[in-house]
Amino acid sequence: MSNPLHAQHYADHAHQCRAAILENVCLAESTYRVRLHCPAIAARILPGQFVMLHLTGADDPLLGRPLALYDTVLDASGAAVAVDIVYLVVGKMTSRLAQLSTGGQVDLWGPLGNGFPPQSTRHLIMVAGGIGQTPFRALAQECLGNRRYGDPQREVSQVERVTLCYGARSEGSLADVEQFEAIGVVVNISTEDGSRGHHGLVTEVLGKLLASGFQDARLVCCGPEPMMEAVAGQAAAVGLPCHVSLETPMACGIGICFSCVARVRDKDGDWDYKRTCVEGPVFDAEKIVW
Ligand SMILES: Cc1cc2nc3c(=O)[nH]c(=O)nc-3n(C[C@H](O)[C@H](O)[C@H](O)COP(=O)(O)OP(=O)(O)OC[C@H]3O[C@@H](n4cnc5c(N)ncnc54)[C@H](O)[C@@H]3O)c2cc1C
Ligand code: FES
Repeated sequence: MSNPLHAQHYADHAHQCRAAILENVCLAESTYRVRLHCPAIAARILPGQFVMLHLTGADDPLLGRPLALYDTVLDASGAAVAVDIVYLVVGKMTSRLAQLSTGGQVDLWGPLGNGFPPQSTRHLIMVAGGIGQTPFRALAQECLGNRRYGDPQREVSQVERVTLCYGARSEGSLADVEQFEAIGVVVNISTEDGSRGHHGLVTEVLGKLLASGFQDARLVCCGPEPMMEAVAGQAAAVGLPCHVSLETPMACGIGICFSCVARVRDKDGDWDYKRTCVEGPVFDAEKIVW
């Protein structure tokens, strides 16, 4: 059995492919969803895993960029043939990607990283800040029993309810809220300027939700680091398990360069640097040294 902490594992198990762009659409302010035809990756990828995306033929940026699986796309026979990626335009790669259209190509390798571990609880609470909602769409689909992922497809026990606490600067930055609702997710919105939902921070929305008394629940969180730290504290205060998906900048994505390390506690209470690309990006929130 190969070791996912070694780069060789990815040489054996991850696929590199040139993927055709099936569509590239704007969802919200500076936020796009690109659909990429890559059956070998789509068939294997799990919620919380990511791909490295490189612009075909580009030497600037030279390195690929990590992007989370948003969801897979099925063909008429039910086979996963494409992946959807939702991305925020922040720099060179994402601004060039936003200019590509149907028929264009990009280079992809994946699936990479560990993904969200299956856990059986009655409720799943997903907390997203900014573009941090991207790893949660496939997770919600899986936990609600709408879809299965992986090859062989993994078994996950269904939850009764999935709630997304989704915080953004303003209404214009919120992406795909209706799509989350359409698959059965209860969405609680907050915006910093009060243009939609709660006027304030997503941690305030989460605080209210937790105060309403959740017992058999677990949290997952993705977004800016101070937000994830606060959510980890809120989960610990009410004794609920919480996993965070870190968005540490990455160079290789397969464990070679150590550019992506985070400080993670071991079982003795000491901490060590762990590579987010191979030991994460999903970590038990209690183990992170913020
Ligand atoms: C596992 C993982 C999954 C990710 N999934 C998504 C996703 O689904 N959608 C999405 O939009 N983004 C995601 N990201 C973040 C994405 O990889 C970066 O935004 C990427 O660097 C953008 O490339 P760029 O060339 O456009 O910008 P760059 O030129 O790389 O960066 C532009 C600016 O953003 C800063 N920056 C870059 N990366 C980060 C980071 N991770 N955290 C804070 N600041 C950063 C840089 O310092 C620079 O100032 C993910 C990151 C990781 C590690
Ligand atoms: S990105 Fe190179 S070791 Fe993680």
